[in-house]
Amino acid sequence: MNVLSSAKELQKTLDFAKSQGATHIALCYYDRLPVFVTLLLRLSNLGVAALIQAGDKPVAPHPFMPSNLPILSPETACSFEKIDAIIVVDQSNFPWILRLIEQVIQRNLLVLPADPTWVVQPSIANLTQQTAWRESVPVEYVARSGLSGHYLEFGTFWGRSFFPAYFRFRHWLKGDFYAFDSFQGLPKPKELETITTGGDFREHTYNFGLSSFMALSEMLKIDQERLKVVPGFYAETLVGQPPSLYGLEPESVSVCVIDCDLYESTAQVLEFITPLLEPGGLIYFDDWRLCRASREVGERAAALDWMKVNPRIELVEIHQDHWQNQWFIFNN
Ligand SMILES: C[S@@+](CC[C@H](N)C(=O)[O-])C[C@H]1O[C@@H](n2cnc3c(N)ncnc32)[C@H](O)[C@@H]1O
Repeated sequence: MNVLSSAKELQKTLDFAKSQGATHIALCYYDRLPVFVTLLLRLSNLGVAALIQAGDKPVAPHPFMPSNLPILSPETACSFEKIDAIIVVDQSNFPWILRLIEQVIQRNLLVLPADPTWVVQPSIANLTQQTAWRESVPVEYVARSGLSGHYLEFGTFWGRSFFPAYFRFRHWLKGDFYAFDSFQGLPKPKELETITTGGDFREHTYNFGLSSFMALSEMLKIDQERLKVVPGFYAETLVGQPPSLYGLEPESVSVCVIDCDLYESTAQVLEFITPLLEPGGLIYFDDWRLCRASREVGERAAALDWMKVNPRIELVEIHQDHWQNQWFIFNN
């Protein structure tokens, strides 16, 4: 994308953020403000309140850097009262930046990418029924197997997997797309889950606010009729709750994506979905081999214990797109 069209996209996102009620917007980048942003800042009064440099590398100020704006670190941004929205303007570091500013996001600010195509590329957004079939193994399986129920994802964070999945499956699945997340990050992990992920799984990490998720769904033009978002910790939203509360009938789920990292969260999810999974439907664990593929902690351990309690359940391996994860066909 050239400098001019990037600048146009940023201008659109700034207008969108303002339409969502944002009045003091910070622009966030890793260590260097992209050229299209400097250009836009010099050419017009955008109403930007601050810049946030998410990376901790000291960078020599360059001549085109706007001198009138405070440059904050994630730490100083936490207590900088004058911002109510953050637009990430750095495409190549976008997912990493969302991890680096988690503590700022805890203030429940609106957080958006400068350009929605960083979340769902046009090649995915424009998939048709036929091209979606050829683009991914899980979609091909769904299409070939006559599955047409709901899509459920447990652990959506900012939608890195959820939003592209909507565009991949939307032509074949006729049900709704459910996002179950606390929108406050992880609950307290077991100590071994923190140790076996090199310190990654900690309380409140992977936190992205509900209002940002909903705003992003609007930017991406997701059919709001088919989007069902259930915010809250599973201890409240799943445990002891009838699935009918969310419009979910027995055996109505054709695809279930589990990316909630922890043993306890996964166990709560599995108990909730047992009657909902359609025989022959797909179940995916994003962290099947994380936590050293432990039998005690993490997603896999919870699934093994679930299968012990439900011996009729069979999981048939069908696809893997990374060492960490695993797609299965579910049978009961
Ligand atoms: C690794 S992130 C999900 C990543 C996402 N699927 C992606 O592709 O970027 C894990 C998510 O699980 C959610 N989560 C974990 N345990 C939960 C629980 N008990 N209740 C609600 N949400 C939970 C966290 O809030 C977090 O958003």
